[in-house]
Amino acid sequence: MARDRAFSHSIDARIIALLRAHSGGRYLDVGCGTGDHSRSVAEIAGAAGKVVGIDTDSAAIALARQQGGPAIEFLVADAHRLCFPDGSFDGCRAERLLQHVDDTFQVVAEMARITVAGGAVAVCEPDWGTAVIHGGDPDLSRAVLHAWGSSLRHGFVGRALPALFRQAGLVDVAVEPFTAFTTLHGYRSVRGQQEWDLSVGAGIAKNAGAVSAAAAEKWLDQLDAAVRQGSFFMALTCFLVKGRKV
Ligand SMILES: C[S@@+](CC[C@H](N)C(=O)[O-])C[C@H]1O[C@@H](n2cnc3c(N)ncnc32)[C@H](O)[C@@H]1O
Repeated sequence: MARDRAFSHSIDARIIALLRAHSGGRYLDVGCGTGDHSRSVAEIAGAAGKVVGIDTDSAAIALARQQGGPAIEFLVADAHRLCFPDGSFDGCRAERLLQHVDDTFQVVAEMARITVAGGAVAVCEPDWGTAVIHGGDPDLSRAVLHAWGSSLRHGFVGRALPALFRQAGLVDVAVEPFTAFTTLHGYRSVRGQQEWDLSVGAGIAKNAGAVSAAAAEKWLDQLDAAVRQGSFFMALTCFLVKGRKV
């Protein structure tokens, strides 16, 4: 999915607000990647606070460590078995993680476990069932988008977040949708960068047998024509869900 910088910043800022992040606070970023969002919350927590980012990808963690940050630590660890005692953090965040994990409930339950009573858990995930495209044959667009979402372990997890939060014992569960979209300019600029690269989606759908090779090619040609005519549009909604630990 394309990560437009302004879109990413708006989710980041909202998560910081939902966690009620403050100076001296302790926060965990689960599936932190190279740690951009861990650093955002660390700026608020300050030198008196503590932020930990964890990820299973040791290369991402090495990059995160190189960039460093105040009162921040990066660890190679698995979200299914968080290596911290109960109630270790004032807040816990994750973004675009659950779509990749084995067991979405176990990860949310672990996030709840390591959060202190009264603290917040915030998770933001896309749901590929919300993806829409204008500019190609609607049946082909639907087939490609469904195959694309299905190629992820949990490509449709966005809609399940409130249920997972309640199941994990979190209360005051609240949902906020964030919709990313791209038009002519976005499609052109992202296609070469492997982000929302619709030829990738067409390839996935073709390999999954959801569309024929000829249909995949036809669909991409239709989208190219739509771009030329200025009628192309694509959007995908991410759901940001917050809950409180009791
Ligand atoms: C799409 S990236 C998102 C990174 C970051 N949260 C962001 O929004 O920029 C998903 C990350 O989840 C990590 N991940 C996947 N499964 C994991 C697991 N079981 N435990 C911890 N991290 C995991 C991946 O290594 C990857 O860095």
